[in-house]
Amino acid sequence: MICVCATCGSIRENKHLTAEYSRIADMFELRYDKLTLDEPLPNPCDFTDKPVIFTIRLPQDGGGRVIHKDVFIRKYREAISLGYAYVDIHVPMDEDDDIGSDELDRLAEYARGENVAVVRSIHFMDSMPRNLEMVFDKIAEKTGDILKIAVLPKGCDDTRRLFAFADAHSSVKKVVVGMGDYGFPTRILSRRMGSLWTYSTPAGASLAAPGQITPELLESVYRFKSIQKTDTVYCVIGNPIMHSKSPHIHNAALRKQSLSAVYIPVTVDKLDDFFRLAGYLDIRGVSVTVPFKEEVVRHCSSVSQEVDTIGSCNTMVSSHDGWKGYNTDIDGFLVSFRKFLNKKDLSGTRIVVIGAGGSAKGIAYGLRREGAQLLIVNRTLKKAKDLAAELECEALPLTADSFSGFEQYPDAFVQTTNCGMRGYEDLDPLEGYEFHKHQKLYDIVYNPPVTKIMKRAVDAGCKVSNGEEMLLEQARLQYRYFTDRCFPSS
Ligand code: ATR
Repeated sequence: MICVCATCGSIRENKHLTAEYSRIADMFELRYDKLTLDEPLPNPCDFTDKPVIFTIRLPQDGGGRVIHKDVFIRKYREAISLGYAYVDIHVPMDEDDDIGSDELDRLAEYARGENVAVVRSIHFMDSMPRNLEMVFDKIAEKTGDILKIAVLPKGCDDTRRLFAFADAHSSVKKVVVGMGDYGFPTRILSRRMGSLWTYSTPAGASLAAPGQITPELLESVYRFKSIQKTDTVYCVIGNPIMHSKSPHIHNAALRKQSLSAVYIPVTVDKLDDFFRLAGYLDIRGVSVTVPFKEEVVRHCSSVSQEVDTIGSCNTMVSSHDGWKGYNTDIDGFLVSFRKFLNKKDLSGTRIVVIGAGGSAKGIAYGLRREGAQLLIVNRTLKKAKDLAAELECEALPLTADSFSGFEQYPDAFVQTTNCGMRGYEDLDPLEGYEFHKHQKLYDIVYNPPVTKIMKRAVDAGCKVSNGEEMLLEQARLQYRYFTDRCFPSS
């Protein structure tokens, strides 16, 4: 179930929110601490026709504002007497809790007497406790209907432990949430964890907890409501990775072909820990992106010839004898680049490759395999020279002195560096170089869709492309490795 958090500053705005999201939401949570002023509670029937959880979060648990103890107690009692479907009452972790353990227990008791379902919750906003079982024992002492544990995993190992913890209590009515980027898989695979619902906050409302996404994304990208416990899981790993468009592409294809599978982003700190998590969740296919494309190779039991040659892998498929590694960046780039140049055959084309990092390696290797002649220019000349020596092509430093050398390579520029990408928007790798009409620039960056160098090239009348098509093409090939099916045509 999707629980949409009503976290606007007034009851009136929250009513609008419930009306707007009643199609997607299975239930709502009214977060009283997010109201800017103390207001009378609405009758739940006037608020929405969906079940509502009434919650007041204390500031130390991520609450919006300090609420006096008397108001806290009064509002919970008001919600219970108005017949809210659930109340979420926290379990204090220390003696200094503002409300007091006995008082909270009495509230829960009152709610049960009035047939209001009780969620007893516990929050660790900054970390994940080593001993989750001890936390569970503390919370399970309470005779509440539903147990909720929200923690902040600090890496893949914490995420795996959280899944294992949920599995160990499969018969308990519960909601287990990993907050933040590392916890994101728990939000999407909540049914796999045995959680009763997942929380989501609409754009524009105050984020109820770190790591939540909007109801629209849950529905449109992850088809959340149809994810089954037994669905095959694929993922993209990187750090950072939450901005990735790969879940949009792969989930759309999985949905189109009605496959029982879901594709999620997994933020990775240590690869060893990720592969333990992947084993635990039985992840069947992994897309790999920055900064792990080279490091993952040692985790493969076998690799394709391209991966072997360039040492960079962006696709891993689980098999009975370990992970198989492939590189679809190369062919993904070539398919899209041929379209860009409008040439089926790249042999004899003369191209400037900007950069000599992991992405450049794959692209330069692919272009050389197709018979193109290359000039590799890079900030660190040694890296350009090493790559050029390997691929038998030319190398120059990324300085103004090299600009005249570009004339010998007139067919296109391929930009592979970080310059211009989100976080580096102000960088232009060819600053000072004047493009002229009839030149072509292919920038593999796709976010933002127009980089600084692309803008300059467009202004000079050049034909340009960003890397969106390459992203799509490499994903198509990857999809085939993952599912043994062709990527759907539209
Ligand atoms: P990726 O796998 O995405 O290619 P990478 O292997 O770290 O990442 O390579 C990054 C590329 O961007 C390199 O060519 C790097 O140049 P250096 O080899 O000199 O490091 C290039 N790059 C990064 N920041 C740059 C900048 N500010 N100006 C020019 N080139 C830059």
